[in-house]
Amino acid sequence: MAQYDVVIIGGGPGGYNAAIRAGQLGLKAACVEMRGTLGGTCLNVGCMPSKALLHASELFDAANGEFATLGIEVKPKLNLVQMMKQKAESVAALTKGIEFLFKKNKVDWVKGKGRIAGPGKVEVTGEDGATQILDAKNIVIATGSEPSGLPGVSVDNDRIVDSTGALSLPEVPKHLVVIGAGIIGLELGSVWRRLGAKVTVVEFLDRISPGMDAEVAKTFQRSLTKQGMEFKLGTKVTGGQASKKGVTLTMEPVAGGAAETLEADYVLLAIGRRPYTEGLGLETVGVEADKRGFIPTDHFRTSAQGVWAIGDVILGPMLAHKAEEDAVACIEMIAGKYGHVDYNLVPSVVYTTPEVAWVGKNEEELKAQGRAYKVGKFPFTANSRAKINHETEGFVKVLADAQTDEILGAHLIGPQVSEMVGEFAVAMTFRAASEDVARICHPHPTRSEALRQASMGVEGWTMQA
Ligand code: FAD
Ligand code: NAI
Repeated sequence: MAQYDVVIIGGGPGGYNAAIRAGQLGLKAACVEMRGTLGGTCLNVGCMPSKALLHASELFDAANGEFATLGIEVKPKLNLVQMMKQKAESVAALTKGIEFLFKKNKVDWVKGKGRIAGPGKVEVTGEDGATQILDAKNIVIATGSEPSGLPGVSVDNDRIVDSTGALSLPEVPKHLVVIGAGIIGLELGSVWRRLGAKVTVVEFLDRISPGMDAEVAKTFQRSLTKQGMEFKLGTKVTGGQASKKGVTLTMEPVAGGAAETLEADYVLLAIGRRPYTEGLGLETVGVEADKRGFIPTDHFRTSAQGVWAIGDVILGPMLAHKAEEDAVACIEMIAGKYGHVDYNLVPSVVYTTPEVAWVGKNEEELKAQGRAYKVGKFPFTANSRAKINHETEGFVKVLADAQTDEILGAHLIGPQVSEMVGEFAVAMTFRAASEDVARICHPHPTRSEALRQASMGVEGWTMQA
């Protein structure tokens, strides 16, 4: 029987980072992954392929419109096969990269489905049905999540697709209906809208992007609507009937009223994700998932001695970089060091046009806490780099404590703000005041000057116009 200090079940951002960190710290580590490649949801069917399509479709869209403003006249022609091919090649290179890092850090990738078979034991069933038992001083569950289903709308990944299906549609839909105005719906909806589809987004709530600062969400919705995306908010989908040619969706207003139908050639169901623990053998060590399927943990420790859990399968934002933080902290604790994750400082990004990014608390959360705060805001229309690039949509908003000036949250909507939100994450990690950022010299002309100007705005001394 193979003996390990740590056996990690799942090879996604949680699992592979845990395995690599374990190897770096000299622990004998194995990672059990049943998918044919490493990297989990993120590398195979999540972050990376979606960003590949977002990037390519953004350029296609720009070539169709914005380029002309810059004096570049082209008539782009879509080659969807090539667009999908380059996506697949990038994904393959990235997953191979994890294999390389496993070898470099002496991590064993044990291929197959892992199941906890009692304290300190993981049983792995390979594709051929053969089983082996791994002996583990510590077991880390990093089995991730899967798309949530909706009764009456069954995903066939032909006409009614989940995010995985939407990453590989064989053609540009004439009409794509997206159920759920969350991150997946808006990112993948944007991809297909840019490539020529009519996109209608049906959302249960009366707003898009729950969790996002409400003022930002309003600006975001206005922008997406201007681009041609249609929204049906406060609407409940009651059923979906797929045929060879398309789908008929039935829906009704959440507040009550007449039912209606929508015809689409494809439907994307994107109403959230749920933890994945199928056949994991949690019962053999007495661990019970909560009502929503998450594994309860205290600093990654489950209720069973020597069994830990990280990433999407535990509570917290379902994000790759959060899974990575969990992984490092968990393994460092297993190695007798100190591990810490500040979940308030996990940034969120929506990679659309404009991009949306935030870190810390939004206005609604601060109000709910009864916290007194000041607001500094700066629009990209007043940022010189954004102006010369004709990318003036959006703004930066900084929320700071009314008494101490400590930054409590930063909310960005605009061009490439995904690359800028990290500055606020750093500042907030060091518990900076808005004045600290306001007094840091930023290069000119850059969009990042908007961060400084918004911070200056907290005390009312914004300068650029
Ligand atoms: P996962 O990545 O889900 O990995 C779990 C792995 O465990 C899987 O490979 C699975 O095959 C394996 N596994 C499960 N059970 C077993 C078992 N019993 N035995 C062996 N193997 C098992 N996050 C971001 O931060 N940024 C983004 O831009 C982003 N984009 C996304 C786009 C899409 C379309 C989707 C669906 C998700 C996106 N996410 C993004 C979320 C991100 O993918 C997840 O938060 C992240 O992958 C979670 O990592 P994880 O390691 O916890 O789980
Ligand atoms: P989500 O939680 O972001 O959004 C789901 C949306 O569906 C919500 O607006 C919700 O109100 C709505 N909804 C729920 N039930 C509904 C129903 N019956 N009818 C209509 N609308 C309904 O979930 P999503 O978009 O599926 O993404 C899952 C997770 O994947 C995200 O929460 C995020 O953690 C991760 N992700 C992250 C990305 C990023 O970081 N850029 C990109 C894509 C996914």
